[in-house]
Amino acid sequence: MSSLATSVKPGRDAEIKIAPGPILLLGAPGVGKGTQSKELVKIWDIPQVSTGDLLRANVDQGTPLGKVAREIMARGELVPDSLVNDMVAVRLSAPDTVRGYILDGFPRTLGQACWLDARLSAQPEALSVVAVSIQVNYNQLLRRITGRRICPVSQTIYNIYVNPPRREGVCDLDGAALVQRADDTEEVFKERIRAYAALTAPVVEHYRTLGRFAEVDGDRPIAVIASGIVAAVEGLRKT
Ligand code: AP5
Repeated sequence: MSSLATSVKPGRDAEIKIAPGPILLLGAPGVGKGTQSKELVKIWDIPQVSTGDLLRANVDQGTPLGKVAREIMARGELVPDSLVNDMVAVRLSAPDTVRGYILDGFPRTLGQACWLDARLSAQPEALSVVAVSIQVNYNQLLRRITGRRICPVSQTIYNIYVNPPRREGVCDLDGAALVQRADDTEEVFKERIRAYAALTAPVVEHYRTLGRFAEVDGDRPIAVIASGIVAAVEGLRKT
């Protein structure tokens, strides 16, 4: 287990978990950010903050934000920074984020990254973001996107090619019928990749330049990648 996750005993019965702080997972659509976030939540006991999930919840609930976001997401484009930043600000004010959180899908533009950095530097007690980019080749990404199925109840992520449920189309955990995301088509995937290259690649360079950046190979078993991310974060937090 990671030393960041290990409980230390500075005094008699006192037990303090060292805070991992804000961890940013970067990577192209389908690289495994959501899958890894769920692993890291278990390891560090901090929440996943997924802007994709938050936006989809707004779409499902028909909120004013959801009404704007629906068409943009269906085309594979990015929702405007101001709307996403406001949504994230609300989520990060929740008390469960005090020890840290896994940022999944945010920031994905330079504007969002600068907004987040400014917000954190205005909080003297807050740790800065450390970013880990997951790498997978294009053909693997396409297979992961088109093969992805999700449980609408437990949010468990499956893949019909590499990580199928025990019974076809049914969640192992709760028996719910699995669903496919509307943007998980090859056509929309191509637009999402284009948006990633144009708008999110500069975020990678931003954190690399700041020296708060590491890369991990995402073409390995899920638990092995998670261990690689934990090791990378520990290394970055020590510097
Ligand atoms: P979002 O939901 O964030 O989508 P994404 O970034 O395109 O990423 P995905 O969720 O598709 O993939 P993932 O990397 O999480 O992969 P997963 O773990 O599921 O965003 C959707 C849309 O919302 C955007 O297009 C945009 O419109 C909008 N949006 C979101 N955030 C925004 C922002 N900040 N600003 C503006 N707009 C925003 O895995 C994929 C598949 O691979 C699964 O089937 C899984 O089982 C499989 N898999 C995972 N790991 C492995 C492994 N190690 N080996 C084999 N298979 C694996």
